[in-house]
Amino acid sequence: MDVWIEPEADAVARLAADFVQDAVGAGEITLGLATGSTPVATYRELIRRHREEGLSFDRVHVVLLDEYVGIAPDHPQSYRRFIRDTFTNAVGIAPDRVHGPAGDAVDLAAAGADYEALLQRLPPRALQLLGIGRDGHIGFNEPTSSLASRTRVKTLHPDTRADNARFFADSESVPVHALTMGIGTILEARRLVLLATGDTKAAAVAAAVEGPVSASVPASALQLHPAAMVVIDEAAAGGLAHRAYHAEVAAHRPAWQRPGAGA
Ligand code: F6R
Repeated sequence: MDVWIEPEADAVARLAADFVQDAVGAGEITLGLATGSTPVATYRELIRRHREEGLSFDRVHVVLLDEYVGIAPDHPQSYRRFIRDTFTNAVGIAPDRVHGPAGDAVDLAAAGADYEALLQRLPPRALQLLGIGRDGHIGFNEPTSSLASRTRVKTLHPDTRADNARFFADSESVPVHALTMGIGTILEARRLVLLATGDTKAAAVAAAVEGPVSASVPASALQLHPAAMVVIDEAAAGGLAHRAYHAEVAAHRPAWQRPGAGA
């Protein structure tokens, strides 16, 4: 895993935007995007580059990691609505190029299979952005999710529902289930970029980066990917035992590993 530790959250957003910019410059591609709070600053930076520097998203398709079950695409708390309002509308990505699992489907197993089929039909997923839950989840793959899992229904952990209650009227209104890309699905993207900021994520980041690969920490599956980047601020890096080594790596990072090098 390639660990990038930045001084603060704004620098994390700029670096993540650099990686996204590299991906969208590579032609007709699919971008895997995450929702939640962490990537919002990255989306803001990409919108700024679109408006001020002409960064084009004309050849980009978007796929989301997950969607709450029982929530229609236009529901204010739906992730498809969130990404349109927060990012894709502002950079000119048409709604018909923004895809997410159909959490409002009657047959959710079929909806999961349909999403997997869609991912195969779309242009290559050049980059998948990820956040991480305090319990180490990626997408909504909660602890004990199979490392080989595909898009399917998962029951949200009560801690995840509590964390996400801020987007709803109260925690009781947070859906119990989500339709989420599986860990196996996530690992098929060409490059993974996991973002984390703040000390509430420090323990999960340390377990994912330095702990054993385990279904108990779904984000540890990134250790199995050949091009996984972890972009975090100092606070989120606070639990890393190999902090000094990560600094050594950063000090001697070859130019070809940096954004803009055509990786
Ligand atoms: C969102 C998602 C989740 C979040 C994670 C962190 O699409 O799949 O895994 O990335 O829960 O959320 P924040 O960034 O709000 O702390």
